[in-house]
Amino acid sequence: MGTVLKPLAVSLLLAVFLLGTLDASEIGSDGDEKQVYIVYMGHQHQHEPSESTGGFSAAEAAHHKLLNQILDDGSSALGRIVYSYKRSINGFAARLTEQERRKLSGTEGVVSVFPSRTYQLQTTRSWDFLGFPRNARRSLPTEGEVIVGMLDTGVWPDSPSFSDDGLGPPPGRWKGACLNFTCNNKIIGARAYRQGRAGLSPVDTAGHGSHTASTVAGRVVEGVGLAGVAAGSARGGVPGARLAIYKVCWDDFCAGEDILAAFDDAIADGVDVISFSIGGKLPAPYFENAAAIGSFHAMRRGVLTSASAGNSALTGGRVGNVAPWMLSVAASSTDRRLVAKLVLGNGKTIVGASVNIFPKLEKAPLALPFNGSCQPDSLAGQSYRGKILLCPGGSNGTGPLLAGAAGTVIVNAEPDVAFVFPLPAVTITQDQFTQILAYINRTRNPVGSIHSTKATFNSDAPIVASFSSTGPNLISPGILKPDLSAPGIDILAAWTPLSPVSGNLRDNRFAAYNVISGTSMACPHATGAAAYVKSFHPGWSPAMIMSALITTATPMDPARNPGGGELVYGAGQLNPAAARDPGLVYDAREDDYVRMLCAEGYNSTQLRAVTGSDATVCPASGESGATADLNYPTMVHHAAPGKNFTVRFPRTATNVGAPGRSVYTARIVGGSGPYIRVAVAPRRLAFSRLQQKLSFTVKVSGALPDGNEFVSAAVVWSDGVRQVRSPIIVHTVDVQ
Ligand SMILES: *[C@@H]1O[C@H](CO)[C@@H](O)[C@H](O)[C@H]1NC(C)=O
Ligand SMILES: *[C@@H]1O[C@H](CO)[C@@H](O)[C@H](O)[C@H]1NC(C)=O
Ligand SMILES: *[C@@H]1O[C@H](CO)[C@@H](O)[C@H](O)[C@H]1NC(C)=O
Ligand SMILES: *[C@@H]1O[C@H](CO)[C@@H](O)[C@H](O)[C@H]1NC(C)=O
Ligand SMILES: *[C@@H]1O[C@H](CO)[C@@H](O)[C@H](O)[C@H]1NC(C)=O
Ligand SMILES: *[C@@H]1O[C@H](CO)[C@@H](O)[C@H](O)[C@H]1NC(C)=O
Repeated sequence: MGTVLKPLAVSLLLAVFLLGTLDASEIGSDGDEKQVYIVYMGHQHQHEPSESTGGFSAAEAAHHKLLNQILDDGSSALGRIVYSYKRSINGFAARLTEQERRKLSGTEGVVSVFPSRTYQLQTTRSWDFLGFPRNARRSLPTEGEVIVGMLDTGVWPDSPSFSDDGLGPPPGRWKGACLNFTCNNKIIGARAYRQGRAGLSPVDTAGHGSHTASTVAGRVVEGVGLAGVAAGSARGGVPGARLAIYKVCWDDFCAGEDILAAFDDAIADGVDVISFSIGGKLPAPYFENAAAIGSFHAMRRGVLTSASAGNSALTGGRVGNVAPWMLSVAASSTDRRLVAKLVLGNGKTIVGASVNIFPKLEKAPLALPFNGSCQPDSLAGQSYRGKILLCPGGSNGTGPLLAGAAGTVIVNAEPDVAFVFPLPAVTITQDQFTQILAYINRTRNPVGSIHSTKATFNSDAPIVASFSSTGPNLISPGILKPDLSAPGIDILAAWTPLSPVSGNLRDNRFAAYNVISGTSMACPHATGAAAYVKSFHPGWSPAMIMSALITTATPMDPARNPGGGELVYGAGQLNPAAARDPGLVYDAREDDYVRMLCAEGYNSTQLRAVTGSDATVCPASGESGATADLNYPTMVHHAAPGKNFTVRFPRTATNVGAPGRSVYTARIVGGSGPYIRVAVAPRRLAFSRLQQKLSFTVKVSGALPDGNEFVSAAVVWSDGVRQVRSPIIVHTVDVQ
């Protein structure tokens, strides 16, 4: 999930992104084990423009009838249904036995029945770093018309980032509601979802949701920082846009049935863009995945979903939000690095990371844990009072804090991230730890000083974060995911006073702004940029907005980034200002995605239920096309090692660049190397008017020798001013 990143070693504060193994299970009175399943029935035929108040709607009655038909243990649907999805999506969530699940799966009109999984979550310098300054050109009246739906941990309403000073009333078409929450003209909707319960507050007790919401659409707030660290002004991508809050995560868990309920409402309420910093460690098939289903129905109503790629690169996970109708965002660094220093008694300085806002800790004795581990259990009964405890196996600071340590030095698998700890701390690499050990070995009373954090200039940026989940896309290997990268390391944004800055309940430091990291923080940058594009082009489809963001992304340097190139960082780094005027876009609508799903093996029966249209028919087998045919702004071929291949990517560009008459010519970057050849035909597209569509085909052929897993190139269309860039990736990475 775009949750707070939970790093391996630090396992603490970063919003994290793990696939839950916990399914909400319970043992019924009859002894049969039941768990919550989502029964997905596709398109919602009933027109229910606003919420029904009291009584059953026709859709709800149909869900009850369907479920009652298969319950044969004397229980009634009333006691089993957790949610009826009835506003935008058709289906329900209910507690079922395995046998009941099987019966329902075969029923007409049911697309899929799948267990509801649990997902987790994974200054404002970041926008300036993207070349998107505060005085960027804005479309002010229409920016105020854009409503962004945040599926997250709720929001802290009193943050200055969510002030409604000078904002008029919500757009007239808005159908949302504020339940157990006082809205203003900035936060115009707020709802909370927890396994079907009513009356819960959408107020943010974790911090994650306030952080992401303010990154998307926070007002400009001067003079903020975390105790002087990362000081500056805070602002979101679209300070004039509105926020609608859908609280689906509670203390780090987010249930699938709650997520789908939030999508159902958000679409019907009338949001324009959805931000989803939530996900799993691995992707699930499209119609067994609440976010893929929800974002599909959002796409049909013209709403783009922007999602985090995931935080599981270091734990062997893969990019989690992979549907072609949603944007998937990797996390990368900015030019600001937060460093903390440990100075040894011999004067040697070790430069590590951390957000250390404690005063300098002077010359404290260095100590190693008795049996090598800083886990609270291992340290039980030992005292390190006044000492700096060295933690070779990682720690989130809880163990050292409980053992009375004055500070801690932690070997961390994520050297690129600065975490907030509940005591003075520095995270270091294994090599730096060896240097400290050598000093301790030679010294009778080894001591160290931990300095407060300073910001330094990071000239290597952008580099993708060590934790950011990478491709290939395990569900559709022919679609590049993640799509692009955005800042997700050491991001300062709004926080809630209900959670300590380190997330550790023994920490009594609270702040209005906090620094956290994760693809959770990258996603809202892309959401903000999508809302920015939407404010200039209210009529653009989700695919057009995605295309604008992807084809204008700034290429990243493969030499400075870990192996895997575009499979790690997508098309490159988000460039909001360029995305406003992309020149050409690759559009795709529901029918295009349906054709792709046919090519991937879904059949007409399933897809008719999804779309609600009898006109939905997959081509006869043999003519069903290929994933490569989807009009996607990037091109991927998954090749067999050592085998020659030829693949064609037909594409149609829509001219959206004023004034309208323009000639674009194609340039191929790379792709002349020993392994692949790229050809574009035609190489010239002459447009005579806006919205005109012209087609071309990219042909890629070659073979990747054994041991060479990855090669990339790009086709760039240019009218002399604008650059419309589509990366081409050929890889042989195992996708089983
Ligand atoms: C820190 O780690 C300990 C032990 O691994 C764990 O019990 C605790 O929940 C973690 N604290 C936070 C704030 O993540
Ligand atoms: C939530 O709002 C409902 C309706 O206004 C109210 O009945 C309920 O008491 C509220 N719940 C809480 C926890 O405040
Ligand atoms: C570490 O040492 C303590 C104290 O001797 C002991 O109780 C604990 O079980 C040890 N833990 C591990 C992981 O070895
Ligand atoms: C420090 O001393 C220990 C025990 O004598 C030894 O095992 C270790 O290799 C030494 N480490 C360094 C970095 O010198
Ligand atoms: C369509 O796919 C579903 C799910 O795989 C399967 O149950 C059904 O039999 C298929 N229908 C046809 C007509 O092939
Ligand atoms: C693969 O392509 C190369 C270069 O075009 C050619 O020399 C070779 O014979 C081809 N191999 C096969 C098995 O077709």
